[in-house]
Amino acid sequence: MRVLARDVAQEFGCRFGRQPTVSRAPGRVNLIGEHTDYNDGFVMPAALEFATLVAAAPRPDRRIQVYSIIMGESRAFDLDAPAETGDWSDYLFGVAVMLERSGRRLSGADLVVSTDVPLGSGLSSSAALEVSSAHALLTASGLPFEPIAVAKICQKAENDYVGMRCGIMDQYVSACGVAGAALLIDCRTLESRNVPIASNLRLLVANSGVRHQHAGGEYNARREACEEGVRLLKPALGPIKALRDVTPQALEANRKLLPHLIYRRCRHIVTENARVLEAERALIAGDFAACGVAMNASHASMRDDFEITCPEVDFLAELAQATPGVFGSRMTGGGFGGCTVSLVEASAVKQVSQILIDGYRVGCGRDAEVFDCSPSDGAGLIPL
Ligand code: GLA
Repeated sequence: MRVLARDVAQEFGCRFGRQPTVSRAPGRVNLIGEHTDYNDGFVMPAALEFATLVAAAPRPDRRIQVYSIIMGESRAFDLDAPAETGDWSDYLFGVAVMLERSGRRLSGADLVVSTDVPLGSGLSSSAALEVSSAHALLTASGLPFEPIAVAKICQKAENDYVGMRCGIMDQYVSACGVAGAALLIDCRTLESRNVPIASNLRLLVANSGVRHQHAGGEYNARREACEEGVRLLKPALGPIKALRDVTPQALEANRKLLPHLIYRRCRHIVTENARVLEAERALIAGDFAACGVAMNASHASMRDDFEITCPEVDFLAELAQATPGVFGSRMTGGGFGGCTVSLVEASAVKQVSQILIDGYRVGCGRDAEVFDCSPSDGAGLIPL
């Protein structure tokens, strides 16, 4: 991270000839609670050490100029005549537009952005770019960074500007993450509790290398199925607002009201909400085995009911689940590829990593990247 900070600051100096501030916002791994956020439910992500950095300094006009080190490309944008570009810069410009619409008057800014969050792997590279951009733009404008308000603005940018109807989880934990802990987020009230990750536990993330394609596709279709479920259950269950309001028992009692596919989509959500709370309880009690059971059940539910996994990710999760030293393993993130997260006994991390790398090569003929992750803090300035 120090290298990345030096790189963006140096690049900024070369391009713009001034001293920037450097904002940082992390990617995340979700321990459990998938697709529950937009159902007003519970999630339990942790912010990662992987992050996006934005070097920034204000301009006297209303232009935003940005150079991405990763893309090797520049883009420019006029705050008074915003236009979509259809590429990576929409995440940043969308955030600028939504910050202004929220009543925050921005000054123009010169920006340099870079990241070490693996892209398109379910570790929230998009949220990291959005939240770090928001932090940089606000800092350049002399405005405060209010983490939860900013998370909502960034979510809106992704919903309305990029067209991905994501929930609040990724932006929330990128803005509010706490080193050493996962966050239990209630996505209805937007309150969160810290769930400390014990020092003898590790979060092992394995990247299948299968890239997901979210925007406009299967992700939004899952969201529509959940909304359809709520519509169909309302006559029987009264004034429910979201699947958060439906217990597993109430769903079973009314399953005849739902087409089978919608029933299975809803079953994932209502059982997943229960599993998140169980995982929180188990982690706090030091009952890692019980947390692992909930994680494994979450994976099965995503595979069989919500149908958002893929063979490579199933392979990695099942291999980890069968490996000594692993308490539990599941796909993490929106789905259709990306990463698994395994809860691993600290002393077994090296061995488990090697088993995943070797097993994946033999079983799927592909290379997996494996990361031993520690929960980090959410967005902030990096001292230079
Ligand atoms: C993506 C979205 C989140 C959440 C997850 C699935 O990461 O951005 O809002 O819905 O998928 O849990």
